[in-house]
Amino acid sequence: MTLAFYGGSFNPPHPAHVRACALACERLRPDKLLVIPASTPPHKPLPEGSPDAAERFELTRIAFRALPGAEISGMELRRSGKSYSSDTVRELRAAYPDARLCMIMGADMLLSFEEWHEWRYILSECALAVLPRDEGDMAAMQREAARMREAYGADISVLDVAPMPMSSSGMRELLINRRGADELDGEVYARIIRRRDYGAKPQLDWLRARAYKFLKPARVPHVAGCEHEAVKLAERWGEDPGDAAEAGILHDITKKLSMPEQLKLAEKYGIVFDTLERGNIKLTHAVTGAALSRELFGVTDRVYGAIRWHTTGRPGMTLLEKIIYLADYIEPTRDFEGVEPLRALAYEDIDAAMALGLRMSLDELAAAGITPHGDSLEALRWYGKETT
Ligand SMILES: [Fe+2]
Ligand SMILES: [Fe+2]
Repeated sequence: MTLAFYGGSFNPPHPAHVRACALACERLRPDKLLVIPASTPPHKPLPEGSPDAAERFELTRIAFRALPGAEISGMELRRSGKSYSSDTVRELRAAYPDARLCMIMGADMLLSFEEWHEWRYILSECALAVLPRDEGDMAAMQREAARMREAYGADISVLDVAPMPMSSSGMRELLINRRGADELDGEVYARIIRRRDYGAKPQLDWLRARAYKFLKPARVPHVAGCEHEAVKLAERWGEDPGDAAEAGILHDITKKLSMPEQLKLAEKYGIVFDTLERGNIKLTHAVTGAALSRELFGVTDRVYGAIRWHTTGRPGMTLLEKIIYLADYIEPTRDFEGVEPLRALAYEDIDAAMALGLRMSLDELAAAGITPHGDSLEALRWYGKETT
C-alpha cells in the first residue's frame, strides 16, 4: 500500500493546503492519506497569537473536511518536544512496515531539506512528492530533485500541477487587517474570529452579514447608520475606526429578543439584572448584546464595553464607549427635536455632548414617567460636572 502524508504547522490551515493535498492525491493515488499537524515545529517558533497545537489540530480537521478520505493524525501532538519529521517517519514505518511512504511537501521545504533533522533517514524510508508554490519554482525544483536523485538515490517526484501561492503568514496578515473571510474556509474563519487567535479582527462585511440576521429588518438602517456615525466620530477623535464599526454593527444584536429570551441569555452568561432592568429591554439588550457578541464574535473588552454601556452610559467612559453612545443617538436616521445641536457638539466637544445626550435622554424618560437607571444618573453627574 501507499501511505501519503502531509505535515505542517497549519497555522492556520487554508484552502491551498487542502488543494495541495487533493492534487497530490490525484497524482499519487495513495491508499491512505494522513494530514499531520505539528505540535512544536522544529524550524522556527510559532508567531505570537498562534493557537496551541490542539486548536491547530481542530482547525486542520475542519479545513480538511472538504477532502474526503483525509485522516487528520494527532501523532505529533502526542509526542513531546520538537516535531521532527524523522520521528514521524519512524512511527509510520513501525505502524506500516510494508507501506510505501510518501511525504507531500511544498517547494520551499525541498529547498531546505538537507537542513532537516535526520534527513538522510527520511530519504531512506520515504518518497517525496513536491508541489510548486510559485511560478518560478518548477525549474529550480526539477534541478534540485535531479541533484538529490543523483547524489542520494532519492525517490522524488515533482508534481506537475499549477503553482499554488500558499502562505500561512499571508493569511495571518489578512486576519490582523480585518480580511481573510474570503480566503479561508468559512468555518475555520468563524472559529478564528470567535477565539481571536492571531490577533484576528472580523472582516466588516462578514460581520454585518451575520449580525444583521439578528435584527428586525426595520432596525437595519439604524444599525448601519450607527456604524457609519461611529466610524466618523472615531476618525474625528482618534479612535480605531474598525473597532468603532464593529461595536456599531453589534450594538443592538439582542434588541429583537423578548424579555424572557433576554433573561434566558442573562442566565446563560451569569448576568444578574436589577428590578429596573428586568422591566426594560432598552436596559437589558445592551448587557446581553455585549455578552452574545463576545460569545459569537469574540469581541475585545473595548468593544464589549462600548456595547455594554451604549444605553445608559456610565461615569468615566472610554472614548470608544462615548462614541457608540453618541453614534446610537445621532446617527443619520435619527430625527428628533434637538438632534442637530447634539450632532454638532459630538464633533466639537465629546464630553459636553455626553452631558447633553444624557440630559436629553433623562428628560425624555421623565416625560414618559419612566424611572431612569442609576448608571445614567451617575454618568450625567460625571459628565455634567466636567463640562460646567
Ligand atoms: Fe440599543
Ligand atoms: Fe441602537
